[in-house]
Amino acid sequence: MYNGRKVTEDLYWVGANEHRLALFENIHPIPKGVSYNAYLLLDENSVLVDAVDWSACRQLMENIQYLLNGRALDYLIINHMEPDHGASIQAILKEYPNVKVIGSVKTFMLMRQFGFDMEGHEAIQVKEGDSYSFGNHTFSFSMAPMVHWPEVMVSFDHKDNVLFSADAFGIFGALDGKLFNDEMDFEREFLDEARRYYTNIVGKYGPHVQSLLKKAAKYPIKMIAPLHGPVWRSNIEWFVDKHDKWSRYEAEEEAVMIAYASMYGNTETVAQVLASKLVERGITNVKLYDVSNTHVSQLISESFRVSHIVLASPTYNMGIYPIMYNFLHDMKELNLQNRTFAIIENGSWASKAGDLMEQFVKEELKNMTILDERICIASSAGEDKALELDAMADCIVASLKGELA
Ligand code: FEO
Repeated sequence: MYNGRKVTEDLYWVGANEHRLALFENIHPIPKGVSYNAYLLLDENSVLVDAVDWSACRQLMENIQYLLNGRALDYLIINHMEPDHGASIQAILKEYPNVKVIGSVKTFMLMRQFGFDMEGHEAIQVKEGDSYSFGNHTFSFSMAPMVHWPEVMVSFDHKDNVLFSADAFGIFGALDGKLFNDEMDFEREFLDEARRYYTNIVGKYGPHVQSLLKKAAKYPIKMIAPLHGPVWRSNIEWFVDKHDKWSRYEAEEEAVMIAYASMYGNTETVAQVLASKLVERGITNVKLYDVSNTHVSQLISESFRVSHIVLASPTYNMGIYPIMYNFLHDMKELNLQNRTFAIIENGSWASKAGDLMEQFVKEELKNMTILDERICIASSAGEDKALELDAMADCIVASLKGELA
């Protein structure tokens, strides 16, 4: 059954929503689902902009067939070939034997690698700045390598000023009938999922995103149509600004994240006391995360949001607690920069976690600051640690206020 939405006079969303997949890319939990967006333009020529995951192929095909109503599909623009969009391309090629395919040079390389049979289909290879007319609509193409794969490009429709942005401006979370950003309370319902999507999927490639933002700024954009999440037709600057901050590795908020690992609750107690002391000092933008029961994609998302990160870890096998190490490793892989850290360690005999965490932050991460007030716990903390926790809380407050030299 047809389940599309009209975007403009002659442009339709023909994607689908996914709720049955537990892990996006088989790694990131998506409790709110995800949308696979594709768009059909009914100009003098019909143009499908991107496709969907294999799981959504049937819905895509029903949507296209309904709207085409017997017309041929003339063009398929592939802005992104990753299988969460590209997997259903083969079915489209088979169903529409005369469809011409538009993509970057690497799009066609990846199509071959994924085993798609282009025989009989014209391949139109475009490069930066190329334009193509479909009748009333002329599209320009800009390359956006590594946002999020090397073949990625974005397409801009000069008639309606729509930017088809591929993975850029995507989010986790299914749309469930609400296509446009102004049909939902985006900040309350989806900002966290947008940040978690960006930081974990594209976070590593901040300079590439910056480059795309500069290219996009040249277009008079009235609408952004990404491959996941809502179509933006209002408040676009607000969402672009979020991506600008994230891709410059600038903290979104002056805030404190206390990430703790705790085997028997003693390290957690110290983290809780520190949180209380910060709130008592007026710093209420504080959140605690037990790394053992918070998915690392959420930890990474929060580390991009906040300015200050407290790491509290026991020593484990003479090293950093493994789940905390995994968090640090992901910070490195996703290129987190420009944060201020404080360190709390616990060790019942040979305490190593503090030194190792400090070494990792200093040597493996870029442009990080570590506050001097480290706290060392031997098994559990007594009242004798209260003054040290006061000193750490004071130091974090001073840092947040920019009062440290
Ligand atoms: Fe939504 Fe990089 O694929």
